[in-house]
Amino acid sequence: MPKIPSFTKITGKIILPGDKSISHRAIMFSSITKGSTRILNFLHSQDTLATLQAFRKLGVKISYDRKKKKVLVRGKGKFLKSRGKILDMKESGTTIRIISGLLAAQRFKTTLKASFGLSRRPMKRITLPLRLMGADIKGRSKGDNEYPPLEIRPVTMLKAINYKLPVASAQVKSSLFLAGLYAEGKTIIREPYKSRDHTERMLKIFKADIKMKAKSTVVKDSELASPGEIFIPSDFSSASYFIALGLLSKNSRFLLKKVGINPTRTGFLRVLKRMGAKIRFTNIKKSYFEPYADILVEASPLKAAIVKEGQIPLMIDEVPLLFAVAAFAEGTTRIYGLKELKVKETDRIRSMEHNLRKAGVDFKVSRYRNHQGQRDFMVTIKGPAKFKSAEIKSFQDHRTAMSLIIANLSQGFEARIDNISCISKSLPEFLSILRHLA
Ligand code: S3P
Repeated sequence: MPKIPSFTKITGKIILPGDKSISHRAIMFSSITKGSTRILNFLHSQDTLATLQAFRKLGVKISYDRKKKKVLVRGKGKFLKSRGKILDMKESGTTIRIISGLLAAQRFKTTLKASFGLSRRPMKRITLPLRLMGADIKGRSKGDNEYPPLEIRPVTMLKAINYKLPVASAQVKSSLFLAGLYAEGKTIIREPYKSRDHTERMLKIFKADIKMKAKSTVVKDSELASPGEIFIPSDFSSASYFIALGLLSKNSRFLLKKVGINPTRTGFLRVLKRMGAKIRFTNIKKSYFEPYADILVEASPLKAAIVKEGQIPLMIDEVPLLFAVAAFAEGTTRIYGLKELKVKETDRIRSMEHNLRKAGVDFKVSRYRNHQGQRDFMVTIKGPAKFKSAEIKSFQDHRTAMSLIIANLSQGFEARIDNISCISKSLPEFLSILRHLA
């Protein structure tokens, strides 16, 4: 069983790999743009490689220097030239959902197959609105949802829609924006709450006809133009694990270099600050299309917080880690609006409940009706917990695994885990960085 040694504090500097969401999008948008785009600080992970391989298979010339983290994409323009292809999405939900919008407009047929975990994740959230746009897309039907594999056949023309997403989702809106680039008319997308806006920002620098308004985003049929080069800041979600560890490990004080600080990604940081965390940005690059900064973190005593529904999409991938952090904070933390956690790589409410309860944390899940009138979930955690060292069950989910390793190490325990290969989905260097810190 893999073990991660305990340690006492973090000091110095940490440089983390590039952002996962931005890496996916950089490959996708460069591929459908005529001319070359250089991508710097590309994330090497299972998910982002699934995107890279898919576009290679679609005939796009992509050279990748893993050591230098540099990718050169020789884009084909909006219409790719390919023939009926089976593309392997592996375990990448971001790839399958976003790429579907783009493929729905192509002049060839594609089948998108998926590995075990992704084959069980719901796809109707994209197939339904894409069909409203005239796409010929179909998943494997089961119950009242659809699942991979997805079959996409060519249609003559897509038409624009005016659509409100039932749940805030960057993957879904991005899929529709991409389809909107090929559609007749104005595609207008609204969300119940704002989610990460990497697609909107990147479409802008690729000169798409996109307007971000207060309550909606409008996309029109457009040709993309390459910005030439894209620098990808370090991933805020990956940084979060080290931020949590630094806050919870006495006498820690360290700097995370060039981390993305897009406000639609940093909701976790705002909650931590309300909990009393000492975190500060320095060297801020505010005017870059994806703002970034160095983040200075100091060990801090934390108190409980209330987190409302609308804040969740801005920290969706950090919620498991927040559960773990809340167990260390003084008082009762209440977190609302958690139903989307149930359809991630695993049901992250259950996976965290299982592990935290086993470690002695007072963790309670309740149901309620949210502001949209939908059935939703909230979690109550009473801290500080009397943590016991317990073997971690990862449920094959990278974020469950990393959140619990951090909880154990913060307590001064070594971390024992059933399976750590899932971590390669987003941050293959996680353990080597931890070992280096230790
Ligand atoms: C992502 C969006 C989020 C997030 C995922 C990456 C993206 O999913 O959980 O890890 O890159 O667009 P949803 O759009 O389903 O919330």
